[in-house]
Amino acid sequence: MNIAVLNETSGLEARVALTPETCGKLVKSGHVVQVESGAGAASGFNDAAYVAAGATVSHDRNNLLADANILCRVNKPGPDIIEKLPANSVVIGFLQPLADKTITPALAERKITALAMELVPRITRAQFMDALSSMATVAGYKAVLIAAHSVPRFFPMLTTAAGTIKPAKVVVIGAGVAGLQAIATARRLGAEVVGYDVRPAAGEQIRSLGAQFEPMEVSHAEDAGGYATEQSVEFYKQEQELIRKHSKDADAVISTALVPGKRAPLLITREMVEEMRQGSVIVDLSAAAGGNCELTLPDEQVRHGGVLILGPTNLPSTMPEHASQLYGRNMAALVSLLAPEPAGSFNLDDEVVKGALVTTNGEIVHQAVKAFLA
Ligand code: NAI
Repeated sequence: MNIAVLNETSGLEARVALTPETCGKLVKSGHVVQVESGAGAASGFNDAAYVAAGATVSHDRNNLLADANILCRVNKPGPDIIEKLPANSVVIGFLQPLADKTITPALAERKITALAMELVPRITRAQFMDALSSMATVAGYKAVLIAAHSVPRFFPMLTTAAGTIKPAKVVVIGAGVAGLQAIATARRLGAEVVGYDVRPAAGEQIRSLGAQFEPMEVSHAEDAGGYATEQSVEFYKQEQELIRKHSKDADAVISTALVPGKRAPLLITREMVEEMRQGSVIVDLSAAAGGNCELTLPDEQVRHGGVLILGPTNLPSTMPEHASQLYGRNMAALVSLLAPEPAGSFNLDDEVVKGALVTTNGEIVHQAVKAFLA
């Protein structure tokens, strides 16, 4: 198979879909990998590293696309790329088929087979391809570093000749992949951490990281896929009261609570922000889905009284080397599943591939995507 990697870097994106390491693995399995010149530069991988790994570096995007059997992407391709891809080629990436109403019909019309990274099933067998988890790990870690950098205090307890410094208090809302990484990182920095999640199963994970868990009375917390379900307005009001107990004397709040397909639950009101201490910070990782905090604005810094509210929407891109390393491994594993024989046909029957498959042969085949577009 001819695998293409484009330069996606812009002011908003620094990651690359395959690193030299992952290109090398695919080349060893018999694939041909063509990388657009400069594709890895912002992640710290120069053209020479790709050549050393066995890939070809091309300066001609049109040729590269015309030859592609598989296009590996971080983000969804624009119309300028889609129109140049050959019919029956495959595109894989964070395609946003449940957020963007134009991408899927455009791919179907060009008879492109599309696999959305965000739809890879969260099953044990697919863990190595779970790019949502790897990117959430980066985001959770970086959110805590940003918080630690923003507050005017230490995170750890310090015993010094000038007396003792008390540890910082960090509140983490939502203990999925990003939240658990945030808890682990804040604990490593020595902060006292309190964690919240509607899923009772998260309680044990929060405690096992040395954080305090605040349980909530909730009847139907998660769906069959393990995702949190939407709760009533009354429930969210009660949850706000629970969070308020800790947010008012917290130094940092990292909020990650999401419900798939819905607006992020509103868990930190303006009033709660006004009660927070001077110099404290909220890092709201749910900003792209509307924000857990009433005052969050995506990719903006909001100062309200003495509190800083940040809503970064692409933290993985701020750590592009390791984010690309993890993403590239997820990508290469999915490509290997899709094209186990370099000269054979695509294996669209595998359950992981099927789960991520959005379009093929000019048809939209993913039920949730069909429902979203209906
Ligand atoms: P997510 O990004 O959809 O949501 C983040 C967190 O917010 C979740 O833990 C969710 O329970 C929580 N949340 C939602 N509403 C909330 C509220 N009102 N208050 C507090 N917390 C709230 O979740 P993520 O990180 O994608 O994980 C989703 C599920 O998938 C989890 O159960 C996780 O354990 C599971 N998972 C399974 C994997 C596997 O077996 N291969 C891999 C990764 C995740």
